Formats: sequence, structure tokens, C-alpha cells
Amino acid sequence: FLPSSASSDSFLQCLSTVIPSELVFTQSSSGFTSVLQSSVQNPKFITNTTVRPLFIVTASDVSHVQAAVRCGRTNGVRIRVRSGGHDYEGLSYRSVQPEVFAVLDLARLRGVHLSPGEGSAWVDAGTTLGELYYAVGTTNPGFLFPGGVCATVGVSGFVSGGGIGLMMRKYGVGGDNVLDAKIINANGDVLDRAAMGEDVFWAIRGGSGESFGVVVAWRLKLSPVPTTVTVVNNVRTLEQGAPDLLAKWESTILSPLNIPDLTTRVVLQGRVAIFQTLYLGRCTDLLDTVLNVFPELGMTSGDCNEMSWLRAMAFIYFGNTTTPVEVLLNRTNYVAGHYYKAKSDYVRRAVGSAGWSSLYQQWLSKNGNGKMVLEPHGGAVGGANTATASPYPHRRGVLFNIQYGSDWCCDANGTMAAAGLAWLDGIYGFMGPFVTSNPREAYANYRDLDLGKNVIGQDGLSSYWSGRVWAERYFMGNYRRLAAAKAMADPGDYFRNEQTIPPLPK
Ligand code: FDA
Repeated sequence: FLPSSASSDSFLQCLSTVIPSELVFTQSSSGFTSVLQSSVQNPKFITNTTVRPLFIVTASDVSHVQAAVRCGRTNGVRIRVRSGGHDYEGLSYRSVQPEVFAVLDLARLRGVHLSPGEGSAWVDAGTTLGELYYAVGTTNPGFLFPGGVCATVGVSGFVSGGGIGLMMRKYGVGGDNVLDAKIINANGDVLDRAAMGEDVFWAIRGGSGESFGVVVAWRLKLSPVPTTVTVVNNVRTLEQGAPDLLAKWESTILSPLNIPDLTTRVVLQGRVAIFQTLYLGRCTDLLDTVLNVFPELGMTSGDCNEMSWLRAMAFIYFGNTTTPVEVLLNRTNYVAGHYYKAKSDYVRRAVGSAGWSSLYQQWLSKNGNGKMVLEPHGGAVGGANTATASPYPHRRGVLFNIQYGSDWCCDANGTMAAAGLAWLDGIYGFMGPFVTSNPREAYANYRDLDLGKNVIGQDGLSSYWSGRVWAERYFMGNYRRLAAAKAMADPGDYFRNEQTIPPLPK
């Protein structure tokens, strides 16, 4: 994989036998920049110093993916696969170190294939969650897929890193809901579940994207949903007792509020806590439960918004009842254009009112652009049988996941960036005593290169030992099993980035 113009020419020549030229972009093509930027979420990764791909292949057919892998492998060009482009460190379209690579963009390879009344769907890899929600909600309205909040996230990245959201307490994480998949291996062959084997099939359902091959389609399980669900946003300020409410909320997650149909996540920003509830049923039943176990929240029937599941997905994403559900089909993130960095944690012991109070006083109220999102676990995700569940390891005993986010405008490396990053490091340090340790768990899909990067060994492979540093925080005891699956699926480590699973040494 040494840079050479000869191998670049051969790569293009090789592609041209299978892929129409209008689907392949070189750095000198007029459309290169707009295609590269088409799904970039964070302008931090498209500056003058970003290591960009030499080529972009916008595959519209599985044969194009096969050709890209075969031609890349033969000619020393690595492939970075991009589906929705939401990777928090931009690793689907940029490299941290200088490297010869092509982006294999799957946005054209999208579509949802389902029939009314059927509890599963084949979903092409480039489909976004919003496109999936729309297809399921309009064609198969009695069913849902338990996805995340942001409609522009790619199904492939979501499932490949676990996939958490407001429906996981009832149905498990995204990776628990995959029935079959089609993957292109490093030889360019198409393998389904039977052909790839159960070890690799287990690994692709949450063991991190890019590591095991290119997924071109997923068969996803769809689950029944009532005709009417209820969504509620309760906004409470510091002055209205947000720390006490948070303390009560966290003490109810696993019991007595461990009701899988009911999920209340919380967004903390400035002096405010927004309690966002999704209940898979009607308002009267929701109130019966909440008023019993969490009356302090003060939820009333006037707060309830009853609607279809599809409409609820739009409400949760757009924050209103008026945006048409068709806007879920828009692949451009409506918050695109802002710079940000995220980190994550897991909490297994309640933080308590005093802890929340200090957090507000010392950190949240000092930065209006800093945010924390608390995603409750329990229910199906916490009770999963770890022997059969997908690689997502943060299950039994986890109260909630924390995502910390810091946003700033308008520079990648200037004063605003420094202030935003310093705030993030500070709040992450403050939370240390309240969260898990040894390892300090982190969520793979909230990718964070501060946790570590792979080192390439003298054998030319990503080192298993360097991977332990970051991967045991994402995957805990599942890391070794994932590395064994990598050694089976891609022993030569062709598919790799700074945080892909290294092959288990022999
Ligand atoms: P992208 O295309 O960047 O890919 C991410 C990784 O997967 C890369 O390593 C890529 O190479 C690899 N990959 C992509 N397609 C592949 C394929 N077909 N085969 C093999 N590897 C592939 N998460 C969550 O669980 N719940 C949530 O609610 C949210 N919400 C959210 C909102 C916003 C605004 C952002 C930016 C992110 C989230 N996330 C999230 C995190 C999200 O799940 C995570 O970033 C996913 O990896 C994004 O998947 P994409 O396909 O969009 O990313």
C-alpha cells in the first residue's frame, strides 16, 4: 500500500472495466469536492490539511462494490466505506495519517424492500434511518425498526456500531435486530449469513464498521407497534429543581420504571433538562405509570402528543408536529455546518442530586453550547442473553449512556475550538468518579480518537495489543472474540482505519 501513480492509474483502469466512468471521481474531477462533502457532518474534517481520498467511487450496484474491493486490493489502494457519513471522527472519508485510499460511497446503493404485514425487510447499505422509517411507516404501518433519533444517520454505521435509541428498551439495540446480511469480503466475494458463518455474522452486528468487509445489504427484523404512540417533552430548569428530578429519574430506570414500552431520555444544556418520552401506547396508560412512579416530573395529559410511530420519529427528530414526514427522506442533516466533538460514558450507579447539582453549577451552566444526552438502558437491552446478543456489551446493570457534545462556530483549530474542547475535557474529567471504571466504558458509535488508535506492526497488520487500549472500552470482554472474527474474515487486514478491529494473532 505504498503511494504510487502507477498503482493509482492501474486502479482506475481496473475499475473502468466494471464501473461507469461517471460514478468514479478523482481529485481533479469537477464533482469531486461536492461528492466528498455531500454527507460530511463536521466541517472540522474538510479543511486544507485533511488527508482526503484520491478517489471516490459512488457505487450504485453490488458489482461496483466488488470491483472497488478487488481493484483496490490488487493495486494497493485501501477503501474507506461511507454510508450515511456521520462517523464522529470522519473516518469514513478522511485518514488521520497520509494514506492512499478511495472512498466507497454507498449513498446511491439505497432502498428498502418489504411487503405489508411482513416482519422483516432487506435494506440496501446506503439507506438512512429516515428512509427506513418512512418506508416501514408508509408501507408496513403496524411495524417499526428500533433506530436512533437522527434521521440522516446511515443504517449501516448505526447497526455496525451497536445502535441505541428510544425503542431499545423494548426491542434491543440495532445490532440485535439483524436477521441476515450480505457482505463483500476482501476477495470481492458476496457472502450471506450462511456463507460468512455465525462468528463473522455476530461481529458485523455491532463490532464496528469497516472491520470485517463491506456490508451491501441487511435483513432487518421489524417489530409490531401499536397504531398510536405518545411523545412528550417536559422542559425543567435548574430553578425548577432539575437536579432532584434527574436523581429521581435515574433511580426509576431499572426499577420501578423498567417498563420496556416507556423510555424517557434526558437532554441537558445550559440550565435546562429536557425529559423526552416515547411511550408505545396511549397517553392515558402513560400517565397511569408516570404519575405513580415519577409524579415529581409533573407530566399532564396536556403534554401528550398522540400520533403514529412514523410521525413520532419525525417529531423526535424535528421537535415539532408540523414538519411533514417526507422530510425524513432528506439526507442532509439540518444541523450540518457546525463544528463539534463528542465523548461518551456509561453510568451503573446513580449520580445523585448533589452530583447533578454540581455538574450544572460547574459545567453545564457555563457553556450554552455544551450538551449531555442521557440514554436509559434496562429492559430488553439490559436483560439480553449475552451469549446470543450482538457485540454491544453495555447491558446488565447499566443505568444510562451519556453523550457529551461540544459545538462551536466557525473555526477548526482556533480559539473557539480550543475553548469548546477544553470544556469537553473538563466535564469529562468531572464525571470520572460518577461513571464506570476499569474500563471506563465508551460507546463505539460515538467514536472518540482520544481513546486510542491502532498501531501497525512489523507484519503490516493492525496490532491486537494497540487495539486493546481503545477497543476494550467500546467492546469490553467481546474484544477478543471480535479480533478472532476479524482474523477469519480479513486476515490480511485490508479493511482498516484508525479504530478497526485488528486480527487476533495466531
Ligand atoms: P459513516 O458512513 O460515516 O460510517 C461509520 C463507520 O461505519 C465508518 O467506519 C464506515 O467506514 C463504516 N461503514 C459505513 N457503511 C459501511 C458498510 N456498508 N459496510 C461496512 N462498514 C461501513 N448513534 C446511535 O446509536 N443513536 C443515535 O441516536 C445517534 N444519533 C446521531 C446523531 C448525529 C447527528 C450523529 C452525527 C451521529 C449519531 N449517532 C447515533 C452515531 C452514529 O450511529 C454513528 O456515527 C454511525 O457510525 C453513523 O453511521 P453512518 O453510516 O451515517 O456513518
